[in-house]
This record gives sequence, structure tokens and C-alpha cells, in this order.
Amino acid sequence: MKTMKEPKVTLIGAGPGSSDLITVRGLKALKAADVVLYDALIDENLLLEVRASIPKIYVGKRCGIHSFNQDDINILIAEKAFEHGHVVRLKGGDPFVFGRAHEEIAYVESFGIPVTVVPGVSSAIAVPANQGIPMTRRGVSSSFWVMTATKRDGSFSEDLKFASQSSATMVILMGVRKLAEIAAEVSKYRGSLTPIAVIQNGTMQNESCNVGTLGSLGSGFDSIDTSKPGIIVIGDVVTEHPSFFEEEVQRVLHSSL
Ligand SMILES: C[S@@+](CC[C@H](N)C(=O)[O-])C[C@H]1O[C@@H](n2cnc3c(N)ncnc32)[C@H](O)[C@@H]1O
Repeated sequence: MKTMKEPKVTLIGAGPGSSDLITVRGLKALKAADVVLYDALIDENLLLEVRASIPKIYVGKRCGIHSFNQDDINILIAEKAFEHGHVVRLKGGDPFVFGRAHEEIAYVESFGIPVTVVPGVSSAIAVPANQGIPMTRRGVSSSFWVMTATKRDGSFSEDLKFASQSSATMVILMGVRKLAEIAAEVSKYRGSLTPIAVIQNGTMQNESCNVGTLGSLGSGFDSIDTSKPGIIVIGDVVTEHPSFFEEEVQRVLHSSL
């Protein structure tokens, strides 16, 4: 059924996790939605902000379980815009950071439907920040590199190797499944004493953070559920984490018992 409303699409970055980390502009646009298509890693409390009567459709892709593939999502956005009017496409973090936003925009615009993008706070920076881990620190790290560790075929990306050879803070998204392999690879260039943090459910109530060194991954990191998404931070800035030194001392004490 077609609506009398003009079709339009707003891509909104929902922020890194907790529902109160969306931007003011994003929240305003969300409240004006006629239909919402939302991803995995969106705090569902955000859906309480939209009118109860409108459709809210989950189109997340998680851990290989793809209820919708990217082509399905593109088609659905265009269809829903003609059906309901204003589609809000709610995406985790910032839509332009590993968000495939450009594919959605290109498809929707090919039908003449106008698209607006509302930037979001990316998990890449905000999730470590929420744990007290900065991206840069004067005299410690003067740049940071946000990357995914592997290519489509599962092999390590060239960027992982280049970043390992630099002194940049490394922020690795979508890498937790390969945590041990990544640590071993980066160790080759930076050494086993390089600090690492793994943060899961960042900014949410059940947030967890494990800190240590690349060489200590075997002990103390056992509690990490590698089937769940998370952010890996590698570099000396991790020592800023409030419990970094205490955790390392405990680990050394236990390993010498
Ligand atoms: C497809 S990428 C999308 C990133 C998103 N566009 C952003 O700017 O944050 C999804 C990855 O972001 C990371 N991620 C997103 N939200 C997270 C959170 N709350 N806690 C930990 N990692 C998160 C994980 O590495 C996850 O696999």
C-alpha cells in the first residue's frame, strides 16, 4: 500500500551502545520516523522513543546469521519509504564506519528518494573512552588507526601489518573471533609486552573489559566470549586503564605460584 507522504530516508548513527549516546539531532529525526529499520548492537531502549504505532523492523546481521543480506536491506528501505514515507535507518555507531552506508544511499537514491545522514558517535573511539582508554596521549601516542583485522577471505589485512609496524594506537573492530591470532601477529612487530584491551558490550550495563599484554592473552582472558562482538585496542595508551597495572601484577604473581 502506498502512502500519500513523500518518501525519504534518514540514516542515523545510533552511537556506540547505550541509548543516551545518540546525538540530539539523531534523536529528533528518530522521533519523526514513520518506520524504523534497525541493526544489531542497537540499544532497544531507543525504540521506546518512536511512536508505538509505527513498524520497527530488525534487519541485523550477527555472527554469520543473516536474517537479511545487504541487498535485502537496500530493497526493504526503498520499499518502506514508498509504503510509509519517512524511513529511519538506525545504524550502530557512525553510519560511515564499517557501516555499508554508501551502498544503502546509492540504492535508495537511484529511485529518486532523498537521503539524509545524521552522524553518530563511533564505538571505535567511544567504547575505549568509556573505559578510560584514550586514543592519543601526548608523549605516548600521536595517532590511531581504526581497522578490521581480516579481509573477506579471512586472511590478515595488509593494514594490520602496517599498523603493527607503526607506533599508532590500533583499534580493531570485528576481530574478537581471531583474538589469539591477532595478538600473535602484532607481537611479531611490537613485542609481547605491548598492552592490549578487549571491550565487549561497550557503554552498556553489561560492559566488560579485559586488559593485559599481548603475551598474557593465555591467562586472564579466558572469560572473553569470542563469539560476541568487541573492540580490541593495542598500544601503550591501554596503560591508562585504571586497573592495567594491578591486573598485570596479579597475573605475574599467579603465574609464579
Ligand atoms: C560492523 S561494525 C560497525 C561499527 C559502527 N558503525 C561504529 O561506528 O561503531 C561492528 C563492530 O563494531 C564494534 N562494536 C560496535 N559497538 C560495540 C560495543 N558497544 N561494544 C564493543 N564493540 C562494539 C565491534 O567490533 C563490532 O563487531
